[in-house]
Amino acid sequence: MKKNLVVLTGAGMSAESGISTFRDSGGLWERYRVEDVASIEGWMRNPELVQNFYNTRRKELIKAQPNAGHTQLAALEKEFDVHIITQNVDNLHERAGSTSVLHLHGELMKVRSVYNDKHIYELSPEHCEISMDDRDKYGDPLRPHIVWFGEAVPMIGPAIEITESADIFVVIGTSLNVYPAAGLLQYVKHGVPIYLIDPKPVNAPQNMAIHFIRKGASEGVAELTQILTSQQPPK
Ligand code: APR
Repeated sequence: MKKNLVVLTGAGMSAESGISTFRDSGGLWERYRVEDVASIEGWMRNPELVQNFYNTRRKELIKAQPNAGHTQLAALEKEFDVHIITQNVDNLHERAGSTSVLHLHGELMKVRSVYNDKHIYELSPEHCEISMDDRDKYGDPLRPHIVWFGEAVPMIGPAIEITESADIFVVIGTSLNVYPAAGLLQYVKHGVPIYLIDPKPVNAPQNMAIHFIRKGASEGVAELTQILTSQQPPK
């Protein structure tokens, strides 16, 4: 029976793929106002600005490749039942081969009807930009399939269940600034080992025994792989 390895990832996971983080120096929130491009109020105020923000990020994503952190996480599926809970809206975990990826904050390559959140459409690399003139087959305008600030996080329930099932919990590349994602740590069962991979210190809950790996995602996941596979029972 394989152990459940649950991994919570944030923007730092994709930094080495050239995708901007949010709160690092040079991050997205230094160049854009969150309230203008990533909130429901911003969408109501100026939807074209929001569409352009996500069109730009899709064009960046299409040029990006998964990094060694993504591919090593996918390789861990040989030894563990790996479940990834990501705050990232990119598709780099999937493109690296991970088979269980839950997106808490939506998916950049998907759009959906403004009027029916069940009508979701996957964009292709060839056609990754949408405008306010686009319509779906029901005649509805389209919006990014992203969870904006001020909106509910519909996948938090399943994410909590996955977190509670963890035999090992890993946090990679998130400043743990945004809830409810950051609150998932509270659902890790007592006694379950927690590893945190980040090149900078992260203000994690003080009451938890956390094994810090002060490295970037690629090197950090390599070190984690060493640690976890050395703990595996002999075949
Ligand atoms: N490898 C690993 N971690 C890295 C790397 C790297 N190469 N480079 C930077 N980091 C770390 C930073 O030190 C920081 O702790 O990644 C983290 C990025 O933090 P944020 O920019 O705050 O991103 P994140 O935590 O994912 O933001 C959460 O905020 O704006 C919302 O919806 C957005 O999902 C996002 C959420």
